[in-house]
Amino acid sequence: MLQGTFLILAVLHLLCAMAEIGTDIEKAKALLAQGQLVGIPTETVYGLAANALDADAVARIFEVKKRPHFDPLIVHLHDPTAIGLYAREIPDTAREIAKQFWPGPVTIVLPKRAVIPDIVTSGLDTVALRCPAHPLAQELLAAIDFPLAAPSANPFGYVSPTTAQHVNDQLGREIGYILDGGPCAVGLESTIVGFEPGPVIYRRGGLGVEEIERVVGKVGINTILSSNPKAPGQLASHYAPRARLIIGDIDVLLKQFDGRRSGVLTFSRDFNLPYQRVLSKAGSLREAARNLFSALRDFDNMPVDTIIGELVPDEGLGKAINDRLQRAANN
Ligand code: TXA
Ligand code: MG
Repeated sequence: MLQGTFLILAVLHLLCAMAEIGTDIEKAKALLAQGQLVGIPTETVYGLAANALDADAVARIFEVKKRPHFDPLIVHLHDPTAIGLYAREIPDTAREIAKQFWPGPVTIVLPKRAVIPDIVTSGLDTVALRCPAHPLAQELLAAIDFPLAAPSANPFGYVSPTTAQHVNDQLGREIGYILDGGPCAVGLESTIVGFEPGPVIYRRGGLGVEEIERVVGKVGINTILSSNPKAPGQLASHYAPRARLIIGDIDVLLKQFDGRRSGVLTFSRDFNLPYQRVLSKAGSLREAARNLFSALRDFDNMPVDTIIGELVPDEGLGKAINDRLQRAANN
């Protein structure tokens, strides 16, 4: 009897502590308008959103994520033409990228206007802007009259979420509502481009660099690791699962580690091991990108201390996948 009561209380406690998950745009809108945080789907990863023009609401994002204040946020817009409201001195190449790829998985960094609070940009005089392509995100952004500041909805340094449940698992106790848009179609964060004054890639991501170069010509790459990075997604150790991840030649690693007791992460080959995840049996980089973060999270629920893994082919989206794998391995 007593045990039963305890069990019911424990379950109730768990349920109360979790966020509500649903597709109610009105509810998300009302919470955001009150300065609260909402988990939102985008085509890249799920975001932890607040009214970007409300400094107090944005401060909560840093608290909930336990994110250092030197790490600026991306501001999400509904209408590409709104960039002029939040940024100034917009080069033609930036306009061209926005025109070709928005809504989509690319973020552009431009000198900011004063209406964007300093806490959003961590005091930088530039702001990162993006128009997300996910239909629910679009619907929400159309329904509100302010842009949304939203980092990926994970605790700082951990793997980004690609389902509403991922968000709930880690941040559900801290937020009231998560808009459920299903699994993210891209699965990697947006590509970040700055202008110095020519286009420079700060973070590889869901839009291939080659695609950007087709529109604006050769771009610079500046994804250098540092302790005070322009984009802390660049921090050497990021996107990290619980177990130690070791990346190398998987055939060699399988000789060094017990493949039945370790996590095994491969691109396309299936060794039928108990704790293996294959990113894409068909060898598709798109599918691998979609599965990467879920696979890394899965290992957290397996009895393994070590994960051995391999890089994917280093071309197109593969370069962004390999970037995340290498950072996840850098613990
Ligand atoms: O796909 C995405 O970009 C997702 C979804 C939710 O939109 N967001 C995302 O946010 O990945 P976050 O906060 O995890 O990563 C944003 C990156 C950070 O590494 C930050 O340093 C960089 O954007 N960033 C933001 N503002 C910047 C600025 N003014 N200059 C340089 N980098 C900036
Ligand atoms: Mg992030």
